[in-house]
Amino acid sequence: MEQLELLELLNEMTIDEKIGQLVQLTPDFFSEGGEITGPMQKWNLESEKLYQIGSILGTHTSEQVYSIQQDYLKKSRLSIPLIFMADVIHGYETIFPIPLALAATFDEAIVEKMAELSAKEATEAGIHVTFSPMADYVKDARWGRVLESNGEDVTLSNALTKAYVKGYQGEDLSKDKNRLASCVKHFIGYGAAEGGRDYNTVDLSDIEIAQNYLPPFEAAIDAGAELVMTSFNTVHGIPSTANTSLIQKILRKQLNFKGVVISDWAAVVELIAHRVAEDKKEAALLAFSAGIDMDMMSDSYLSNLKEIINNKNKEKLDEAVLRILNLKNKLGLFEDPYRGLTKKEFDKNKNLRISACEIAEKCSVLLKNENILPLIKNQKVALIGPKAKSRDILGAWSWIGDKEEAVSLSDGLQKKDIELSVLGFQDGRELSDKNIKKAVRLAEGQDIVILAVGETSQETGEAASLTNINLTRNQEKLIMEVSKVNKNIVLVLFNGRPVELSSIECFVKGILVAWFPGTEGGHALANLLMGEANPQGKLPMSFPRAVGQLPYTYAHLSTGRPQNEENKNQKYISRYMDEETTPLYPFGFGLSYSDFELQDIKFSKKKFKGNESISIDVTVKNKNMNSGSTVIQLYSQDIVTTVARPVRELKKWIKIDLLGHDEKRISFSLTERDLRYVHPNLKSKVDSGKFNLYLGFDSLDAKIIGTVEYHESN
Ligand code: BGC
Repeated sequence: MEQLELLELLNEMTIDEKIGQLVQLTPDFFSEGGEITGPMQKWNLESEKLYQIGSILGTHTSEQVYSIQQDYLKKSRLSIPLIFMADVIHGYETIFPIPLALAATFDEAIVEKMAELSAKEATEAGIHVTFSPMADYVKDARWGRVLESNGEDVTLSNALTKAYVKGYQGEDLSKDKNRLASCVKHFIGYGAAEGGRDYNTVDLSDIEIAQNYLPPFEAAIDAGAELVMTSFNTVHGIPSTANTSLIQKILRKQLNFKGVVISDWAAVVELIAHRVAEDKKEAALLAFSAGIDMDMMSDSYLSNLKEIINNKNKEKLDEAVLRILNLKNKLGLFEDPYRGLTKKEFDKNKNLRISACEIAEKCSVLLKNENILPLIKNQKVALIGPKAKSRDILGAWSWIGDKEEAVSLSDGLQKKDIELSVLGFQDGRELSDKNIKKAVRLAEGQDIVILAVGETSQETGEAASLTNINLTRNQEKLIMEVSKVNKNIVLVLFNGRPVELSSIECFVKGILVAWFPGTEGGHALANLLMGEANPQGKLPMSFPRAVGQLPYTYAHLSTGRPQNEENKNQKYISRYMDEETTPLYPFGFGLSYSDFELQDIKFSKKKFKGNESISIDVTVKNKNMNSGSTVIQLYSQDIVTTVARPVRELKKWIKIDLLGHDEKRISFSLTERDLRYVHPNLKSKVDSGKFNLYLGFDSLDAKIIGTVEYHESN
């Protein structure tokens, strides 16, 4: 449709029809031929309003989308197609590893591919928009939603957030019907919920927001994300959904975002619970005035906006409606309201499953390996634990993915050339003493015991905050008891967050982090355990020694009393009395069956100015016979700064594949852009001065390789 036609359509719309476009509801309102069921009834709405709403979220099948759209177009006066949105977070029907696991690849191409494949499946089921990526900066593993994040490093998150958007949206949404529009969320600060408790208060300084929280959103918007979702939390004391300064000044003006702003689920009506609005009418007024275009799952707009619309804000209403119509138009919905829909049964997407397996292999992180992995052919192996046979490996956001279709670790290992015995327990936190005794009996006399432990999907994701992030007592007991009869233990950990492993780490010889690996998890893990695939994931979030260290990031500030080797045990320094300050496994860490080494580091120059760049060349050598991949990480430390800056920050990384005994020369390039940071006036710039550079295989291991000097001009 031409822009002019859209404007004509807008002119034709009544106020009610305009307001309707700003409303998003779940599909259950449309069951029984439009008869109102569920919350709508509670909201006391006339069915006419149903045929004015603009969007639906969370449909389950292509048939459902088809029948709702058909019914809606028939009964609504102007036949403006509904836009269907959903949480396609890491796959639609075929489930890929969780986003935190995908971040462990340090690989934009993999994330982009995953997003493209999920878009294909989701569009075939009639979805037009995905509520992904989640660009929230996180450093507190108590918060269950770290599972949906890119982890604790903002530069990595920028790159991956962009990759998600590119993968979902492709080059041109109107031409490619197998692409989804992307809604980046949650704007802003959601990951900083106090105490890691979901939906809790957030209080961040402007500098912190500008430095760490905004950039991934900026990256998504630069990549063309069509929508932004506001967060549930407060920022500067005002809930994001009513925060005019956030939406108008930062999102619209500073980031130049032109697309649709949508609230999170019921967040408009929740302004009442926040006690910034007295009733739904005031809630609607606050959200609308702040700039929320679409009210997700509340009747605040539907029932109240009309009373609020006057001559002064009529134009604002038109602008919001036009943004939604524009999005529908961009997706080609006016020409084809059934965009992408295929009636064909998914052919259980064989190709997607192959990709899901390959991607899952690249996400696992090998944390410990004392000559125990890979397994050797014909070994006697016992696979024991609540996750041994479990198909609860898809993760908290896999609402369409079928658990029964998932490949468990036991399924995967059964196909391998080992002498396997399996003892699986029910998922969940219960693991009785009787079962532990059984496990101990089975473990005796085995060459290797694989203990498959971890979290259930229920224990991760939204509204799954924890005060303890260790394994359950019974799982820890299982590990300790088994270790009394067999020392050759490999832990396979299924988790949506960093887990505190301090108390059990010493009882095992190998630890493989599986995360929630998705539909093909069991195959991927079995390949990794057997050495048919080589682990290559690197932690995108540090695993702390104790939950009390949280929130934690390797990129913390120095403090006035930093701990070092000399003052390690002195009193008046920044440290804990009862624990070290470092994590158990740091950001960027992950082992491999290969053995990599860095050699012959050369700088193109040590001083640079203006727009110049410097390059740092290094040879990466694989010292053993196993082909593998690794990530070489370049960190910097700005030695003297205007605003206190982190002890080190990831600036660049290069992922390479090397055959056995092979080597490659790689080159990092650094420019002034890479060294900028946010100053007190909230502008990003670099200070002239010196920078220490560190190179290595994780944030702690990276060794100082030299000091470079930058000057703004001659
Ligand atoms: C979550 C969002 C999600 C929305 C729609 C909310 O509870 O916070 O991330 O996109 O529901 O399902």
